[in-house]
Amino acid sequence: MIEREKNSGKKREVDSKATSDENSKFDASLRPQNFAEYIGQKNLKKNLKVFLEAAKKRGESLEHTLFYGPPGLGKTTLATVLANELGVNLRITSGPALEKAGDLAAILTNLQPNDLLFIDEIHRLKTIVEEVLYSAMEDFAIDLVLGKGPSAKTMRLEVPRFTLVGATTKFSGLSAPLRDRFGSVFRLDFYDNSEIEKILGRSAKILGVAIEDPACKKLANCARATPRIANRLLRRMRDFAEINHAGTIHLKSVEEGLRDLGVDEFGLDAHDRRILEILVKKFSGGPVGLSTLAAATSEEADTIETVIEPFLLQLGLIKRTSRGRVATPQAFELLGLEIPENPKLI
Ligand code: ADE
Repeated sequence: MIEREKNSGKKREVDSKATSDENSKFDASLRPQNFAEYIGQKNLKKNLKVFLEAAKKRGESLEHTLFYGPPGLGKTTLATVLANELGVNLRITSGPALEKAGDLAAILTNLQPNDLLFIDEIHRLKTIVEEVLYSAMEDFAIDLVLGKGPSAKTMRLEVPRFTLVGATTKFSGLSAPLRDRFGSVFRLDFYDNSEIEKILGRSAKILGVAIEDPACKKLANCARATPRIANRLLRRMRDFAEINHAGTIHLKSVEEGLRDLGVDEFGLDAHDRRILEILVKKFSGGPVGLSTLAAATSEEADTIETVIEPFLLQLGLIKRTSRGRVATPQAFELLGLEIPENPKLI
């Protein structure tokens, strides 16, 4: 059984391209439920299966597991798969939703043995909550402070053995003590085009929409190597196809649809191109520090770093150097600008 904490989806400031509640509902319907349905992340899956089988064989709970990587690559999906494969309940919450130590205590004391607790955006946990989590993870007990002032008392409360699955878009935002308490840490990679094509094919079947091969290929090329974006584009293309093209998604409808959505042949949207343009035009290609770039673009530094930048790095359009972000010659080329004689460019 999957239970989502009521306020767990309250704020997703970091993930500006992430889904609204409405979109998450659709995401959930396309989400694979077990390893057999899950496409991509081959190495991660292979290791995870071994740890899971070993835990099952010993009749133990799975060790605490951390997933990190850019948004939309499948961290929540993997938590769902793990819970289903282990045959345990999944409790979903997020760092910002746990405001007080008591919020976490209430969840922990209500878990069944071996349940899986998923904390999204775990790097955004408040220190007081994080400290409660340490003893819960290590000793399966929490120390609660009852009362205030000199008469305050601490009470140790046992909690059932559970598995914490943490997810973060910002690995460096995790404190060392928290990081060290995870038995396994996995980085999710961007998907290759053939994997995204398979995901699109599977999702199209679930949505009951026909998609021609060339259309699927084109869409996969423009999905930023990210399943969540692929599925979102697929739903929009289904709309375009239903209204303008008699229901089937073919190449022409995809080309038109992508153009109307402002998505280019590399999958970059207006947001990405704006960041690139400012880096290239205003800062002559850099290097420019993250906070300066954030101020110049009126974007949150966190959003640039965790949402926009990873794919620009993946495409080789920017580089991170010790002195800041630098546009590569490919970025100048993409924007149709002459590549300057700039020794700072690598
Ligand atoms: N939908 C979203 N992510 C997926 C994945 N990794 N495999 C299959 N379908 C998906």
